[in-house]
Amino acid sequence: MKAAILGYGVVGSGVGNILYKNADIIEAKLGEKIELKYVLDLRDFPGDIFEDKLTRNFEDILNDSEVQLVCEAMGGTNPAYDFTKRLLEAGKHVVSSNKELVATYGYELLTTAKEHNVNYLFEASVGGGVPILRPLWQCLAANRMEQFYGILNGTTNFILTKMYNEDMPFEEALSLAQQLGYAEKDPTADIAGADVCRKTCILASICFGKHIDPEQVATQGIQDIQIRDVSYAKANGYEIKLLGYCRKLDSGKIDAIVSPFFVPKSNQIATVSDVFNGIVVVGDMVDEVFFYGKGAGSLPTASACVGDMIDCAMHAQKRKNFGWGERDAAFVEDHKNCQSAYYVRGTGDINAVKEALGEVSFLSLQGAPLDEVAFITPCQTESELDAKLASIADFTIAAKIRVLTDN
Ligand code: NDP
Ligand code: HSE
Repeated sequence: MKAAILGYGVVGSGVGNILYKNADIIEAKLGEKIELKYVLDLRDFPGDIFEDKLTRNFEDILNDSEVQLVCEAMGGTNPAYDFTKRLLEAGKHVVSSNKELVATYGYELLTTAKEHNVNYLFEASVGGGVPILRPLWQCLAANRMEQFYGILNGTTNFILTKMYNEDMPFEEALSLAQQLGYAEKDPTADIAGADVCRKTCILASICFGKHIDPEQVATQGIQDIQIRDVSYAKANGYEIKLLGYCRKLDSGKIDAIVSPFFVPKSNQIATVSDVFNGIVVVGDMVDEVFFYGKGAGSLPTASACVGDMIDCAMHAQKRKNFGWGERDAAFVEDHKNCQSAYYVRGTGDINAVKEALGEVSFLSLQGAPLDEVAFITPCQTESELDAKLASIADFTIAAKIRVLTDN
């Protein structure tokens, strides 16, 4: 089968590399070769093995009826949306690593794919090299999904690990993540949580069957985490992790949020470090399942893209039934109404805190100032907690971070 790659950067070049290096095992599985006919990019790649396949003209790929399979690894929504839509309309199968595109226009593109009886697959868009979308859709198909949460961004997990384990300054850790090809073109998407939000939307859409837009999910990144809170976490049996979190509520709506969490060291998510991603999924029949692996980087991500390309080639005649339903503006509950436990740090009188909040677990940190108070609350809504905190006279809040619990 003849194929093309759109975007020959970190991921696209990894796809080329795998198609070249593992051509024999791919051919053995498929019974035919996946032959790269074009690579679209704006730059030149002198000396590259696929130098002779380079084009700057998208129409070369669109109009070549021999090309049946395209991997989109350009990133962004423009022109990726237009290119993907036109390729699907032309009857070509498309695979993608572009979570921004899928989270924004997944429903539209899946609908176009269905109308033209072709596949649109995007395993690499969540968890990089970690198999998660296909297992959710296929292996766990017998379940009503109840909940998922996980570390979905390699860059921020890498930064937090470096800060937590090596006391490396934030900027140095970010620069290292960029050199390793983990970060987005604009790393603000990693740091401020937009990337995790997109992945959370894709997972939620698959788990709960309706397109979830990034605007529906309250999102907070790691930029406000202070070293003092890292110290409190370390001293009291927690890690701080940026999580995408989603669960089905009794009301039928979902609670979806992206936020830093205090994670108890006893939870397997706490053991996920460096560029690795880890995702816990809970289904009503299977109970808890844990997915783990490299969440970013050229070859791990390309491994997922090429897996999708092979799947498309295997289902070239009979399209896979994969996708989700339309948007529903009321489907995501306002996060302020959803229950969570919280870590709070501030300055004030400990007795006033006890009086306003009742049962809380106070945390200790050697060398902390005498008027500093840090504690973990029981589960409650953020609105309830905010009202209680506001009622404490002379209490200044320095940090408020969700805590991952069993409920
Ligand atoms: P890169 O920036 O390394 O690669 C993108 C490539 O596409 C660049 O070479 C870029 O050229 C080219 N490109 C962009 N627009 C066009 C266009 N209009 N025509 C032709 N070429 C174009 O990004 P990555 O490979 O890191 O990421 C690609 C996608 O995969 C993104 O959506 C990203 O979020 C996602 N992803 C990345 C992962 C990673 O670990 N890096 C992991 C999982 C997903 P130029 O540089 O000249 O703009
Ligand atoms: N920037 C992303 C990350 C790439 O660090 O996880 C993988 O999606």
